[in-house]
Amino acid sequence: MRVPLIAGNWKMNGSLALVEQFGQAFGKAALSSSMDVAILPPLPYLAAAQTAFEKTPLRLGAQTVNPELSGAYTGEVSASMLAEFGVHYVLVGHSERRSLYHEDDSAVLARAQAVLSEGLTPILCVGETLAERDEERTETVVLNQVKTVFDTLDAQQRQHVVIAYEPVWAIGTGRTATPEQAQAVHAAIRDCLADYDEQMASTLRLLYGGSMKRENAAELLAQPDIDGGLIGGASLKVDDFLAICQSAG
Ligand code: 13P
Repeated sequence: MRVPLIAGNWKMNGSLALVEQFGQAFGKAALSSSMDVAILPPLPYLAAAQTAFEKTPLRLGAQTVNPELSGAYTGEVSASMLAEFGVHYVLVGHSERRSLYHEDDSAVLARAQAVLSEGLTPILCVGETLAERDEERTETVVLNQVKTVFDTLDAQQRQHVVIAYEPVWAIGTGRTATPEQAQAVHAAIRDCLADYDEQMASTLRLLYGGSMKRENAAELLAQPDIDGGLIGGASLKVDDFLAICQSAG
């Protein structure tokens, strides 16, 4: 019912050579046709990736966007510009953007709205810090991050969002949430979505992110409410990323 999505967030890593390598490997990879795969390279590589991924199942994503349509915003990129390069998914609310670039909930909402207004799919990232988990505030924090966006979107827009649960303590640390820990939060998110609309809750994709790798992907993806992965480090190695995709298909 829910098509799995595996998305590779390269962060500020990669090169033109890596773009080409992924294009070649995924051009001949045997992947299930009932799954979606995306790479989110740094913005300067979008044009090259659009060409390199043309005959592959790889879709393109972007890691950030400015909520404005155009104007005097030095260094920024709008959703319509991303759309011109065939971008399909755009991350909003990644914890690195929240903490390093001070994007608060209202900034995350504005970005999600800008992405949706261009017909693109926001991947809304949510997740608690280690301190918040230790204080047993995981659900409160995560569900608030979801609600800040979902309360304002209309019913039609909500259907087009993907949510990625990324516990901050698991990102880039090698410390993955256990399948049980991840499933519990995913189930809480889905319950929260059902308060808006049960049909939407049952079809919306919830990804797990945080040190997902080829060794642990299968058991995480086997959980009933985990519909894919948002992969950082392991998306920079083509064989590892391919193996993760194969465990989802
Ligand atoms: P890692 O897979 O490197 O932990 O990164 C996860 C992430 O932040 C993906 O957006």
